[in-house]
Amino acid sequence: MEWKGVLHRYFDHLPIEKRKNIVSLNEGNTPLIRANSIEEKLEDDLEVYLKYEGANPTCSFKDRGMTVAVSKAVERGEKAVICASTGNTSASAAAFAARSGLEAIVVIPEGKIAFGKLSQAMMHGARVVQIRGNFDEALELVLEISENYPVTLVNSLNPNRIEGQKTASFEISDFLGRAPDYHLLPVGNAGNITAYWKGYKEYYESGETERLPRMTGFQAAGASPIVNGEKVENPETVATAIRIGNPASWEKAENARDESGGMIGKATDEELVDAYRVLADTEGVFCEPASAASVAGLLKMDGTGYFDQGSVLTCTLTGHGLKDPDIAIDSSPEPKTVGVDVDEVLEVADI
Ligand code: F0G
Repeated sequence: MEWKGVLHRYFDHLPIEKRKNIVSLNEGNTPLIRANSIEEKLEDDLEVYLKYEGANPTCSFKDRGMTVAVSKAVERGEKAVICASTGNTSASAAAFAARSGLEAIVVIPEGKIAFGKLSQAMMHGARVVQIRGNFDEALELVLEISENYPVTLVNSLNPNRIEGQKTASFEISDFLGRAPDYHLLPVGNAGNITAYWKGYKEYYESGETERLPRMTGFQAAGASPIVNGEKVENPETVATAIRIGNPASWEKAENARDESGGMIGKATDEELVDAYRVLADTEGVFCEPASAASVAGLLKMDGTGYFDQGSVLTCTLTGHGLKDPDIAIDSSPEPKTVGVDVDEVLEVADI
């Protein structure tokens, strides 16, 4: 059957009233890839799947939430959307706004957005405002503006975003024929962990699944307010997508962790980049550095007794590696250049 996006597929679980109002880029239906090589490396006996959200139309999981938020804005006759962003939300908001004819205003921290993401917002014609400040400050600004002016907030504080993003849990459960035992994912502003948990609970309550996973989130060590139990004034990490010191859905993330019997931990930049490279090198899956937090967490918790043997794990890879080519290139050996000469090519290619 033709795939027409998450709103058509899961219409009865989502808050849009009329199908004619749906604004979709056929998002969702992303690959669930068995991580054979990683499984072999682990001490624990686990079945591991990667939910590759980089395969969405704007190359991140944000499209699942944005289709609902923008469709709802259209349904209500609104004219403009606004968001703060570390890059992916702005890319997705810009694309869905372009498709629907709404204006998009995106407020981003200057110099802290991966280039691919900035190019998307610019190409889709968003009004891009860079601030000399961080994401947390940008979010405060857009909250104030959306309360006082006729622009709709499409950050994950907008409940329609969470509604859309929960469809990833539905897909995973539908693909596996069951819910996983553990779900691992990066945590930044904490909307996604909130959304996944809501989705898993809804499927469980409606009898679609018979278990609930332990929600297992990871923050970057330099931006780990939930782990530390206090705001981080100046968050820093190579994983700019999750460079957030005061997550909007902080309490909801703690609820997901506690209700599910899970955990929220942290991974250093080195651990994030290691996991990012392992995924690309051994699984053929290229995600952005923040996305690798799920697998960094898996590698970290392996052999500690946290995972029950024989469990099924899903790890969300939230965004595509091409979003942030600078880090890919900086963390790889430089290619050698030779003359137009067979012997020189043979030598460098090590044939
Ligand atoms: N991974 C990526 C690639 C992201 O872009 C984000 C968040 C997260 C993980 C964390 O998800 O915020 O729901 O906990 N990016 C937001 C943005 C903040 O503006 O694009 P979260």
